[in-house]
This record gives sequence, C-alpha cells and structure tokens, in this order.
Amino acid sequence: MKNSKNLAEKDLSYIWHPFTQMGIYAQQEPIIIEKGKGSYIFDTYGNRYLDGYASLWVNAHGHNNKQLNKAIKKQLKYISHSTLLGSSNVPSIKLAEKLVSITPDSLKKVFYSDTGSASVEIAIKIAYQYWKNIDKEKYAQKNKFLTLHNGYHGDTLGAVSVGGIDSFHKIFKDLIFENIQIESPSLYKSDYDNEQEMMDSILQQIESILLQRSNEIAGFVIEPLIQGATGLFVHPHGFLKSVETLCRKYNVLLICDEVAVGFGRTGEMFACNHENVQPDIMCLGKAITGGYLPLAATLTSPKIYEAFLSNQHADKTFFHGHTYTGNQLVCSVALENIKLFERNKLIPHIKKTSAILKNNLERLLTHKNVGDVRGRGLMFGVELVKDKVTKQPLDIKEVEKIVSDCKNEGLMIRNLENVITFVPILSMSKKEIRKMVRIFENVLINTLTE
Ligand SMILES: Cc1ncc(COP(=O)(O)O)c(C=O)c1O
Repeated sequence: MKNSKNLAEKDLSYIWHPFTQMGIYAQQEPIIIEKGKGSYIFDTYGNRYLDGYASLWVNAHGHNNKQLNKAIKKQLKYISHSTLLGSSNVPSIKLAEKLVSITPDSLKKVFYSDTGSASVEIAIKIAYQYWKNIDKEKYAQKNKFLTLHNGYHGDTLGAVSVGGIDSFHKIFKDLIFENIQIESPSLYKSDYDNEQEMMDSILQQIESILLQRSNEIAGFVIEPLIQGATGLFVHPHGFLKSVETLCRKYNVLLICDEVAVGFGRTGEMFACNHENVQPDIMCLGKAITGGYLPLAATLTSPKIYEAFLSNQHADKTFFHGHTYTGNQLVCSVALENIKLFERNKLIPHIKKTSAILKNNLERLLTHKNVGDVRGRGLMFGVELVKDKVTKQPLDIKEVEKIVSDCKNEGLMIRNLENVITFVPILSMSKKEIRKMVRIFENVLINTLTE
C-alpha cells in the first residue's frame, strides 16, 4: 500500500503521459499496473481488471503468455540487438519471410521500424520517392496524398499530414504538408439515407478528384474497413475494393494502414482479406508482436522495391532507417506471435467471440442513450448520445464517469470522445467477452437511469 502511494507520487513527479491532459490526470491517484495474466491486468494494490482494450489494441494471446515469454528468453541467449544497416540477423529474416507469406500476395518486401506512426511515415516517403525514382520529370507533381476525413495514422509529422482529426491535428497545421481529404464513408454521422447512396456519392467524389488531379497524387492512404482512433467508423462492404479499382485506373498507389486492424482484429488476419484487396504498400504495427514489444513494418510490392534499385550508392536509395530497425528480440516474439495465431486457431476463435460481442452490444440499442453500435471482429464502438434523434453526444463528463465506474467494477475500457470502445484481447474467452459487456451494461444502467 505504502509503495503504491509512493509510486503514484513519483509517477506524477516524473512522467508526462501520452495523449493525456496532465492537469486532469494529476487530480486523482493513477492506476499503476504491476502485472498481467491472460485477459487480466493487475494494479499495485492487487486489483484485477479485464483488459477490454487489449492494452491499446495490441494484445493477442493474453498477458504473460508462456510461449511468447519463452521466445524472448531463447533469443536472449543468442543476442539482443545488432544493426540491419549493412548486415542482417536471423529472426528478422525469418519474420520477413513469414510476413510475406501471410499478407496479401501483392506484398513481397518488408521494411522494419518500431511504431505504427513510423510505418506510415515510411510508406509516405516510399510512395513519394517511388514516382521520382521511376521518372522525375513526368511525375514531378505527384506529391500529395488522398486521405479520408477522420483518419488517424499516427503522430509523427508525415502521419499527422495524412491524418484527418481536427482536434489532434489543427495545432500543427503550419508544420504539416497539404493533402486532399475526402468525406469518410461512415453512415451514422452522415446526412445520407443509406449506405449505398453514401458509398456511390463518395466514390464519385474520389473519381472526380482522380480524373482532374491524379498527376498530383502519389497515393491513397486508408485505414481499411474501420477508421479506428476517431471512433470506430465502419466502411460499407465493397468500399475498399472500389478504392483499389480507382487507384489502379488512375495510377495512384494504394497504401493500406493496417496498424490497428491487422492481425485478426476485424475477424480476418488482415482487413484487406475481407475484400481480396492487394495494396501496393501495407503498414503493420500494434498486434504484430502480440502486444509484447514495439515493432512495425511497411510492406511493399516488388514493383515499388525495384524502383529503388541501382548500382550506385546515392542513386534511388531509400535513405530512411532507425537504430533498432529489425531488432532480434522484437522479431523473435513477433514470429512466435504469428505461429500462435496458427497453432491456437485464433482467427476462427475471433469469429465466434465477435458474434457474441456484437449480439450482446446490440441488445443495448434499446437504452435511451445508446445511439449506435458498430464494428467488426473484436473492434466495436458504442456511441453514447443525449438524444437518439439529434445524435447529440452525451456529455463527456458522463462518458468519463462510465469509463471510470467500469474500472471500479474491474473492466478496463477507453472512450474516444462519446464512443466507448470494446477492443479486447484477441484470445479473450466467450465467458470473458460476456462479462465485459455485462459490467458495462450494469454501469450504463446505474449511471444513466431510464
Ligand atoms: C491506423 C493507425 N495507424 C497508425 C497508428 C500509430 O501507431 P503508433 O501509436 O504505434 O505510432 C495508429 C495508432 O493508433 C493507428 O490506429
């Protein structure tokens, strides 16, 4: 107990937390996580929480997983780190081969980094340089990216430039480069009557931009199927495939950011698999290591890779890389993570638990403050509103109280504004999925009485 208080004081003294208004954070004693086991995490007081956001959408097989622990320990006996600059290493080679074998057929080369933001930054730079490498004069203008409103691709300046969340990004507007932003195909917040009408209209807008400006556009950066960090907006079926078709027609690279949706999150190994989409570039991160260590990867097609080949060092080379690129410990655990997906038949498991999560959450639509329930796989959002007709968001203080009460009842979840997110550990059992929704439902009913 004494130690917990002491740690809490030191936390407030020394740590500046990410995406956090520290003035508010400091108003109450922070939860300090000490250990994890399976679907649960435990704080320094011994309180147990069901991990309903998979420790920020990363955990695949549960905390303190024996096989993942073993993979790291085994690698430790060999070496922890050497550089990929000018030499290679065993786990990074094995992992690259594995990643190429499980991702869409179009992708054959792997460029490692260590955060999702970096993987997007790399994708943008590769796409930009690709056009210059193949014909500097002809493609001199291909410097912009098509993006979706409400997109989130990370926090480095390139990733912010292709993002579309005003509240996060407007402060940096003088530092970022200009892009072409398109309406997001998400029905709930739109004025469209139905999905088909919305999809036709947005695809028409995209085509008309491409028709006039494809000579200025290097690539289309998209979160396939679900725009996560903005509030889990689900795109209609067929939208991604149509975007792919338009990109091919107008000679624009398709860059799929699967940092959040990759590795089983939407019920297929990759969101692109739902519509058999073959991206030119794909960004991976988060669950790539099963939630153990920071790793990201940008995969490209051979066409892109070959455009960077030359016999001269400074000609066409991709001058980008990070100190820990392809680190052995990280790659070892990522490789074991993928093997566990196969060994534990995690994708079929997710399909079953997804149906339970969906049904249980959709039952809540009868509550007067539940405006929308949307998602795929194990990535769902419950939008809380003051009024179902006007869709006016529920007061943020009430939303935060619900999240905080859920914690008190043993469930860790997070809200994105007025959307409560359910993005649990991928291996969570059916029983635990039901328990997660039950805790939320009880808190919801107690907080917002009918
Ligand atoms: C779609 C998407 N891309 C990129 C990122 C950035 O990843 P990271 O936070 O690891 O830099 C995120 C993070 O939430 C994301 O959801």
